[in-house]
Amino acid sequence: MASEKPQVMVTCTAPVNIAVIKYWGKRDEALILPINSSLSVTLHQDQLKTTTTAAISKDFTEDRIWLNGREEDVRQPRLQACLREIRRLAQKQRTAGDGDALPLSLSYKVHVASVNNFPTAAGLASSAAGYACLAYTLAQVYGVEGDLSEVARRGSGSACRSLYGGFVEWQMGKQADGTDSIAQQVAPEWHWPQLRVLVLVVSAEKKLTGSTVGMQTSVETSALLKFRAEAVVPARMTEMTRYIKERDFHGFAQLTMKDSNQFHATCLDTFPPISYLNDTSRRIIQLVHRFNAHHGQTKVAYTFDAGPNAVIFTLDDTVAEFVAAVRHSFPPTANGDKFLKGLQVIPSLLSDELKAALAMEPTPGGVQYIIATQVGPGPQVLDDPHVHLLGPDGLPQRVA
Ligand code: DP6
Repeated sequence: MASEKPQVMVTCTAPVNIAVIKYWGKRDEALILPINSSLSVTLHQDQLKTTTTAAISKDFTEDRIWLNGREEDVRQPRLQACLREIRRLAQKQRTAGDGDALPLSLSYKVHVASVNNFPTAAGLASSAAGYACLAYTLAQVYGVEGDLSEVARRGSGSACRSLYGGFVEWQMGKQADGTDSIAQQVAPEWHWPQLRVLVLVVSAEKKLTGSTVGMQTSVETSALLKFRAEAVVPARMTEMTRYIKERDFHGFAQLTMKDSNQFHATCLDTFPPISYLNDTSRRIIQLVHRFNAHHGQTKVAYTFDAGPNAVIFTLDDTVAEFVAAVRHSFPPTANGDKFLKGLQVIPSLLSDELKAALAMEPTPGGVQYIIATQVGPGPQVLDDPHVHLLGPDGLPQRVA
């Protein structure tokens, strides 16, 4: 048995993912088991990530957690479920005899600090990156190996897809205990190097109806959602996987848009109805379709989660022209030099033909800014001890 150190501290990062086949609806609320499988693209952590430090120590008297510098209630059920799951897995591993790697006693309390480098609850899947990071970091401190889908999923369903880089599916599974409801990689992050992702931030406000409550109401009231889960998604999962494997942008883009639209249709079919899109979202949809029509091919796709922000997929040869089209349609009202963040993109000049084809009255300030990014890897352990968010005393020491 390895000698137990008084304290173990680990810092990890995890990515945001954006679903191209959406998860909406649970068949088991407590275990967070979905009514359909889903598929997502992992975004690069250079632009969007959660960083989490976890420490366990014999000196800690209670589990504690700080999010973006503020202490949160650790008794929150989903947090408790993650902690319980990771300790259960650690215990199981120890009983199975591979416990030598376990750094510290399981009875030790844990302190966790986590920060996002993007607005929380802005429909940018912050809970997915957050819970994936929590699961991954806890696994490091407790020495848990193997798939962490179950731990991340108990925090937020979509979080299990942030445990892997590239293109990831979350298989809904059949078992009542959820043991086969797991995430797995469909293709690695280097599979489709030309793919680019633009996050069009329409609003950084907290959303009105959270996903959890929203999807609950949809399951209770929407016949369209039931039809979608049973009759539409299974074939779409197969189709989407094929488009990704074949790097078929046309197929990928068309299906991504259709699936986003169907998800928002189920929201409207929910009673009382839920609408996550706003006027700017709808203008972006129109812009994409007109841009594609002008080119006579599908060069750009949109997808929207439970909020008005758009995520755009395109290829490297189109990104400069599309960014110019967005800037033309939604001219920044202030700080125009900060309109584009992330990967460097030099907007091209728009042709008069394209401007005419877009046929849109500009909406100044409609899009606040764009984050340009690409497909990225899964969670990472940071080796540099200087990056820890907790000090040697186990309390937060800085907000990144
Ligand atoms: C629209 O994973 O946030 O982003 O499991 O209740 O925490 P809970 O929901 P959450 O739902 C995400 C919904 C979505 C679609 C998706 O990411 O697949």
